[in-house]
Amino acid sequence: MPNTKTAPAKSKKAAPKKQASAGEGNSQLDKFFTDCLKDIYWAEKQLTKVLPKMQKAATTDELKAAIEEHLAQTEEHVSRLEQVFEMVGKKAQAKKCEAMDGIIKEGTSIVEETQQGSMTRDVGIIMAAQKVEHYEIATYGSLVTLAKTMGLEDAAEILNQTLEEEKETDAGLTDIAEYNINWEAEQEGDSEDSSEEEEEE
Ligand SMILES: [Fe+2]
Repeated sequence: MPNTKTAPAKSKKAAPKKQASAGEGNSQLDKFFTDCLKDIYWAEKQLTKVLPKMQKAATTDELKAAIEEHLAQTEEHVSRLEQVFEMVGKKAQAKKCEAMDGIIKEGTSIVEETQQGSMTRDVGIIMAAQKVEHYEIATYGSLVTLAKTMGLEDAAEILNQTLEEEKETDAGLTDIAEYNINWEAEQEGDSEDSSEEEEEE
């Protein structure tokens, strides 16, 4: 991940005032920027397939509603990325993001390992969803900074809209967990199917 914030103060030049032509070149940084777009494009598209499954698996209506809302946002994130690809004169292309693939696999196994209808399952889904959000926040945060550095102000603005939504989703998930679900899961006590627990040992 590019960490432009640590650049020495001396090199912090004002972004050049260029628009559509910026980022269209083939410098190393242009290619890197496009690769990062392809990576998060794959991740967002993948999430549009995974989120309905997570929503179905969730126990509480509260979490189901939060996932549904974020699914609608995710579809918008996909089309925003397509706009950014267009702005930099590149074809919208997805490239498998191994990190997101791993986070999604972890989320899927959490569902498999928790009981249907349990609050513990919601705790697990929230944790997996927050890992997704944090990965996206890191990616979009870097992309916004990079776009600004490259003089792609319009692209930076679009990417920033998504960044803000990811942050809101993350905060919303924290609220759901802290005000209700974590506590209820704590009250849930033993697994209903204790034989399954014994088998694990
Ligand atoms: Fe997203």
